[in-house]
This record gives sequence, structure tokens and C-alpha cells, in this order.
Amino acid sequence: MERYTWSSLLLLFFQLQSSSSLVYNTHTLEAPHDLDITDPGYLGLLLVKWSAPYGALMDPACRVRFYLTYFNTFLNRWSVIRTPSTSHRIQVDLSKELKVRVHSLLNGPCTKYTEVKSTRYAEVVRSPGRGSAVVQRLGCVFHRMEYTNCTWEQANHTSLHRLYYWYVDSGATQECPEYIFHDGVRRGCRFTRGQLPVSSLVSICVNSSSPTRASEPAYLYLKIHNHVKPAATEELSLKVVSDVEPRLQLEWTQPVGRVPGHCLQWEVEHGSDRSNGSQPRKKWTVTTETSLRMPLPSDTERFCYRVRSKLADCCANHGIWSDWSHWEYYLPAKR
Ligand SMILES: *[C@@H]1O[C@H](CO)[C@@H](O)[C@H](O)[C@H]1NC(C)=O
Ligand SMILES: *[C@@H]1O[C@H](CO)[C@@H](O)[C@H](O)[C@H]1NC(C)=O
Ligand SMILES: *[C@@H]1O[C@H](CO)[C@@H](O)[C@H](O)[C@H]1NC(C)=O
Ligand SMILES: *[C@@H]1O[C@H](CO)[C@@H](O)[C@H](O)[C@H]1NC(C)=O
Repeated sequence: MERYTWSSLLLLFFQLQSSSSLVYNTHTLEAPHDLDITDPGYLGLLLVKWSAPYGALMDPACRVRFYLTYFNTFLNRWSVIRTPSTSHRIQVDLSKELKVRVHSLLNGPCTKYTEVKSTRYAEVVRSPGRGSAVVQRLGCVFHRMEYTNCTWEQANHTSLHRLYYWYVDSGATQECPEYIFHDGVRRGCRFTRGQLPVSSLVSICVNSSSPTRASEPAYLYLKIHNHVKPAATEELSLKVVSDVEPRLQLEWTQPVGRVPGHCLQWEVEHGSDRSNGSQPRKKWTVTTETSLRMPLPSDTERFCYRVRSKLADCCANHGIWSDWSHWEYYLPAKR
């Protein structure tokens, strides 16, 4: 009696398994549906939403997840996100084409415990507006790590431009705190040190309030620590030091501002004018020190050098060279 009970239970179990669950494969698994992208007004942080495929949720033992891909124009490649959720935020450049795809992923008894990705997918493609941007050469410089000036050029001086910006902790999108004017026309925006985060992404948009013009807003996405421009160095000096033989020691000081000294690298342009008037010969040396030793120039040479600085690779991915210092001369007569 007991034996029969066991075998009939087992039979029932197998019948349930085979009748209730279809075994899905990559072709039979449905794509997600109702893919939709909404722009909450954060200048490029979009909300992507979709619904699970119809059939798969019928089997509670199977785990449905999603495979979201979009072309990431910041990295210039496809980004992939695997998520159990039916929504995801993506940061995009609103001036570029947007392409988002979502596939279904399934794993569990209904796929014989191997992960299956649906061949079909839901897709949304959005093209940016076809007009030209209202302004050109939109760019920002974090001067001395003290304040940021974002500037632009514009073809048409008759319209009124506005700059808006947003970053993760800023709450709502805000308008430029202080416009920069050039000949009475808005040509930029100035941010004080605390108004922008130093190392997180800032989204910037410049649009035109003139409704008749068919021009597109200009967008810029940046981390301002990659746009630091140190001040020009003001103090340079030259002296003769005794190494094995006398040498010329070039020295300079850190520029004013908040850029940490260990973050700077220097380019030294050095050379000499021959006193008979031929073309000066210049060389360039990059160093992280604030001094450099050179052979003593000959009596007929007038030695000169100048320096400029930018953030070294250990502190930022990119930097902007400072302006050059003045030239410092070493005349044979000084010796
Ligand atoms: C500048 O704006 C004026 C007024 O809308 C328009 O007539 C003119 O064609 C524009 N010029 C350019 C170069 O876009
Ligand atoms: C940045 O903008 C301010 C405000 O217009 C201006 O005074 C300052 O000179 C600008 N800085 C640079 C380096 O252009
Ligand atoms: C300019 O952009 C801001 C921020 O996205 C938006 O609130 C505003 O309506 C736009 N202005 C025009 C004229 O499109
Ligand atoms: C200047 O002096 C250098 C080295 O003494 C020599 O090679 C060059 O030809 C001279 N140039 C002129 C224009 O005299």
C-alpha cells in the first residue's frame, strides 16, 4: 500500500512538472513589452520602464530578469545592465541619438536551470532634433579650483540664452546663478566654488528663450575636476649651483589658488638666444618638481625659460594648461 502511494505521488509530481511548465528557450521566451522612456527634466537622466513578458511570470519557480543595453555616448560603447527590476535610470547625452533595448532573461526549472536570453527585444530609438545648436563651443574651466566659468559662442546675438544645470544632489534643475556678459550679450555663466560638485557629473544645457527660432539646445556633461586650469606662475628665479661642475638651477613657485601642489606637473620651456642674433633654440621638459638643473650656457648665449602647469594624471583624467609665466632671462653679463 505504501509503495503505491509513493509511486502515485511521484507520478503526480512529474505530471505537474510537464504540464504546467513549458520549457523556454531563447526563441520561445517573449520580449519585455511597453518599453517607455520618460525625461523627468534632469537634462539627460532618463527613466526607462518596461513590463515583464506575458508568459514567463505564470511559473513562480522561474526567475525573470532583464538585460538592458543602451549606447553609452560618454564611453562610446554599449552599456549592459542586468536587473530584476522593470525600470532603470540611465544618464545620456541629449544631443545624441538614444538607442535602448531590453531583452528578457529567464532561469529556473522552466529553462532547465540555464539562463536564457530572449532573441526578441523591445527597442526605443530617439533622434535628437535636426536643427543646429543655439550656441557653439560650450565649455567650462575650473579656474585655480576656485570658480568655474562656462562660456559659449553664438551666431545670433539677438536672442536671449539661458543656462540650466543639474547634478545628483542639486534637487531640481537650476538656472545660472550669474551670467557673464560680453558687449551686453550673455556669453557665459560663473559658478562660485561651492555651487558645483568637484568630482560628480554635472549636466549643463543652454537654450534660447526665443520661440520662433528652430534651434536646438546645447548640452555639456562634465566633471569639473577634469577642467582645472591653474593660475600662471608668477615667481621664477635662476641661480648658479655647484654640482660636479657649475650648473644653472631654475626654480619657480606654486601658483596661487587651491590646486594642491602634489597634483601639478610642469612644462618648462627653455633655450637660449645666440647673441649674434640667430634663431632661438627651445626645448621642453616636463617635471613634477619645482626646479630643474641645466648646463651653464656659454658666454655668447642668453638663456631663458618659462613654465606652465596642469593637473597631473594622478589627480585628474584631463587638465588644462595654465597660461605661461613670464620669461626669465640669464645674461652672461650677470655672471
Ligand atoms: C538672427 O536672428 C534674426 C531674428 O530672428 C534672424 O532674422 C536672422 O536670420 C538670424 N541670423 C542668423 C545668422 O541666424
Ligand atoms: C570668469 O567670469 C567672471 C565674471 O564675468 C570674470 O570676472 C572673470 O574674469 C572670468 N575669468 C576668466 C579667467 O576669464
Ligand atoms: C530651457 O531648458 C529648461 C531646462 O530644461 C526648461 O525648463 C525651459 O523650458 C527651456 N526653455 C525653452 C524656451 O525651451
Ligand atoms: C651664430 O653663432 C653660432 C654659434 O657660434 C653659429 O653656428 C651661427 O652660424 C652664427 N649665426 C650667425 C648669423 O652668425
